[in-house]
Amino acid sequence: MKIKTICCIGAGYVGGPTMAVIAQKCPEIKVTVVDINEKRIAAWNNEDLSLLPVYEPGLDEIVGEARGRNLFFSTDVNQAILDADMIFISVNTPTKTYGIGKGMAADLKFIELCARQIASVAKSNKIVVEKSTLPVRTAEALKRILENTGSGVRFDILSNPEFLAEGTAMGDLLEADRVLIGGDDTVEGNEAKQALVDVYSHWIPRERILTTNVWSSELSKLTANAFLAQRVSSINSLSELCEVTEADVNEVARAIGSDSRIGPKFLKASVGFGGSCFQKDILNLVYISKSYGLHAVADYWEQVIIMNDHQKRRFAEKIVKTLFNTVSGKKITLLGWAFKKDTNDTRESAAIYVADYLLNERAEITVYDPKVTEEQILADLDYLNSRTEAENRLLVHVCNDPYEATEDTHAVAVMTEWDEFNTYDWHKIYDKMFKPAFLFDGRGILDDKELYNIGFETYTIGK
Ligand code: UDX
Ligand code: UDX
Repeated sequence: MKIKTICCIGAGYVGGPTMAVIAQKCPEIKVTVVDINEKRIAAWNNEDLSLLPVYEPGLDEIVGEARGRNLFFSTDVNQAILDADMIFISVNTPTKTYGIGKGMAADLKFIELCARQIASVAKSNKIVVEKSTLPVRTAEALKRILENTGSGVRFDILSNPEFLAEGTAMGDLLEADRVLIGGDDTVEGNEAKQALVDVYSHWIPRERILTTNVWSSELSKLTANAFLAQRVSSINSLSELCEVTEADVNEVARAIGSDSRIGPKFLKASVGFGGSCFQKDILNLVYISKSYGLHAVADYWEQVIIMNDHQKRRFAEKIVKTLFNTVSGKKITLLGWAFKKDTNDTRESAAIYVADYLLNERAEITVYDPKVTEEQILADLDYLNSRTEAENRLLVHVCNDPYEATEDTHAVAVMTEWDEFNTYDWHKIYDKMFKPAFLFDGRGILDDKELYNIGFETYTIGK
């Protein structure tokens, strides 16, 4: 079966970039991305490509090339479902905040709503592709909803998990290490898998497209993220040990990363990992292990999260201790709010938790991030419900200029590894700060010797 029309439900960090690349690489396929959020769709359709809702280096160019040709953004979900041969589901699956599995299980209500909508609208056979990261065996739930419509329409369900990392999404999509497609081992299932293999074959070498059964595909996505997060928690656990011995975590990371069995990637100590996936996916793994009674397995993976929470808290505590055990009424400047550089995404960013901790200690916080808006920063803090919205607005100031943000401040803390932080005139920043001028580098990106020579009292994670 040759795919002519694709629809993607969910125009977020995953759906938008992924569909833009498919449209660019497959000019004969019409790709429509739909979303219930009108504001988001309007932003995707903005003439000014610098105002797309997702900031991702290189995305604007690809959208500029394909949009209006064979790439469309719309809020008409029903029409897009009707027209499509293949439907990607790329809606968010946040951790449940209520009921059974609260704080751990994935909330699948959006997925279920999508399935019900597809079931009620579709008039011809469809291939439905799970793009959202989901707990193992979600495809089965999808299938049961879709198969019980009584409309005689056939649905084949595939799992095609996303491995793009934000900030490098375009490269990750264009030169993927692998593409994973899970589907049933039946005649129809294999046809559906082949149809999606043909889409990716436009630009991905065939040997990098792996086909598996649905459950293997779903589980591989969760575990890929769990393994990556585990590496970060492992090196972060060592960063604390390095600080109390004479070891330097960067040197340790280089030494162990030179072992080809370990490798150099994902060994950068930090103030803690964030992002929409790591925590959520590990919690899913923990939850599913528990639900099968595998408590040792659940505890093993849960420790990765516990270590990460510890790392964020430890950094905040370090600031308070260093500032003579009190930050009450002191101004502290956070450089960076995004969960990593080159993205405007802030989900689960360590900065949110460090700021919250410092606010509980009555500090005043000033934030500068090159790509995150004031609205987002305040929304992230409000979401925690630690204090009233009015208090957050009183105690948190967002600046558009790094020099203004660091004026008359007691301490600067680097939360995100934005490249531009290294290009600042740190002499100028030092001159305008209260003395002693404290600097906490949560990402280990600044030249601590140079800063020391300027006069800063510096603390770097793992040193
Ligand atoms: C999300 C998940 O977090 C991730 O696990 C998964 O792999 C892909 O989907 P992301 O694209 O980053 O990742 O999420 P987000 O940016 O929140 O985008 C989801 C979009 O779906 C939102 O724009 C939301 O408005 C839309 N949506 C949600 C719908 O269109 N319909 C719904 O019923 C629910
Ligand atoms: C991740 C996976 O990498 C990707 O394959 C998956 O599809 C989605 O989840 P993402 O969350 O976008 O991608 O970012 P990633 O680059 O994995 O970083 C996650 C967090 O770990 C960030 O907060 C980052 O700063 C932190 N990190 C990463 C470290 O602290 N040290 C490292 O060495 C690497």
